[in-house]
Amino acid sequence: MDSPKVVVEGLCKVFGSNPRQALDMLAAGATKDEVFRRTGHVVGVHNVSFDVKEGEIFVLMGLSGSGKSTLIRLVNRLVEPTAGKVLIGGRDVAAVSRGELIALRRKDMSMVFQSFALMPQRTVLSNAAFGLEVAGVGRKERERRAMEVLEQVGLATFAQKLPRELSGGMQQRVGLARALAVNPSLMIMDEAFSALDPLKRKEMQNVLLQLQKEHRRTIMFVSHDLEEALRIGSRIAIMEGGRLVQVGTPHEIIANPADNYVRTFFDGIDTSRYLTAGDLMQTNAVPTLSRLDAANIAATLNGTEDYAFVLDAQRKLRGFVTRDATQNVRPVESIRLSASLDHVVERVVANPNALPVVDDDGCYRGSVSRAVILKAITRSRGNHV
Ligand SMILES: Nc1ncnc2c1ncn2[C@@H]1O[C@H](COP(=O)(O)OP(=O)(O)OP(=O)(O)O)[C@@H](O)[C@H]1O
Ligand SMILES: [Mg+2]
Repeated sequence: MDSPKVVVEGLCKVFGSNPRQALDMLAAGATKDEVFRRTGHVVGVHNVSFDVKEGEIFVLMGLSGSGKSTLIRLVNRLVEPTAGKVLIGGRDVAAVSRGELIALRRKDMSMVFQSFALMPQRTVLSNAAFGLEVAGVGRKERERRAMEVLEQVGLATFAQKLPRELSGGMQQRVGLARALAVNPSLMIMDEAFSALDPLKRKEMQNVLLQLQKEHRRTIMFVSHDLEEALRIGSRIAIMEGGRLVQVGTPHEIIANPADNYVRTFFDGIDTSRYLTAGDLMQTNAVPTLSRLDAANIAATLNGTEDYAFVLDAQRKLRGFVTRDATQNVRPVESIRLSASLDHVVERVVANPNALPVVDDDGCYRGSVSRAVILKAITRSRGNHV
């Protein structure tokens, strides 16, 4: 879990026959436009570094031409870098042989594009099994595995149909199934859902999130849509003119956009909807008690505080006590770290006091109150009105 799946270091791509001068100009701070005017060379990616962790969905965002596709093509080496390097699972992709690279692409990386280019004369099943067929997996086994992923994307009953008998959204799912069937350790998805209408798109995002719950894959996902990025991204990287301007969790990007370029993506989006209880909670607002002796209680509930959460030795939440009834540990409703703002609002509004936030193990992490929620909502709405 700790070592990153993908490491990108100082990656540059300049399109053109003599990139040296362009690289020097870039190093001196020139923009992509200036480089183009002076040298006629096109900057695809400039000096980009980041890590993608095992099991995360890493979203690349940016305007058209900002270098997203070039960057992911550099990762799977469909494009040769002008400078810098890419490590996948600790291996330098520039150093592997042609044969190893083909094996790496087949086994470890799967690409999903905007248009899936399904083979029209083949059935859905055979399309879904195609990656495995190329990898030399026998018919029975590949069809079994393809059927399994078709079930996961909700298309099992369409296995014997031809692509043209399916809607666009369903065809998109076949493409996703094809990528999933090879069980890649890294999935690369370039605008995979961009051609779909908003409802279908949301449905595909849900399919992906659901699949991600079952099998944690490492996914690099390109999108030009911030809402998509906020919904599915563990972290988001924002590109402008070939450079990386910000990398962060959805919450970090919303709370601290690096500049106005990043802020422009917020237009028309209620960013507060993408905050979770973990983003909103305060860690010191409500006192906690783990020993219920009189001195400890008196020290904790010393005037300003009316109540405290009671934790056991593992910091698991046991309940709460009030100043008036310190020996009476009463049960308290808790909220999960990952709970959405909608859920948090609903529960906090129904309760007079701040509610505790717990992690998956039931350990206490912080609290959410009405005041905290109001602040979050007004701040994020204030960003773009
Ligand atoms: N093969 C190529 N030859 C020359 N220039 C290229 C090539 N591929 C990409 N570029 C240029 O590199 C820059 C980045 O392009 P890229 O396709 O990576 O952008 P993008 O962020 O994926 O855009 P979009 O959102 O439109 O897909 C653009 O200016 C593009 O014109
Ligand atoms: Mg692109």
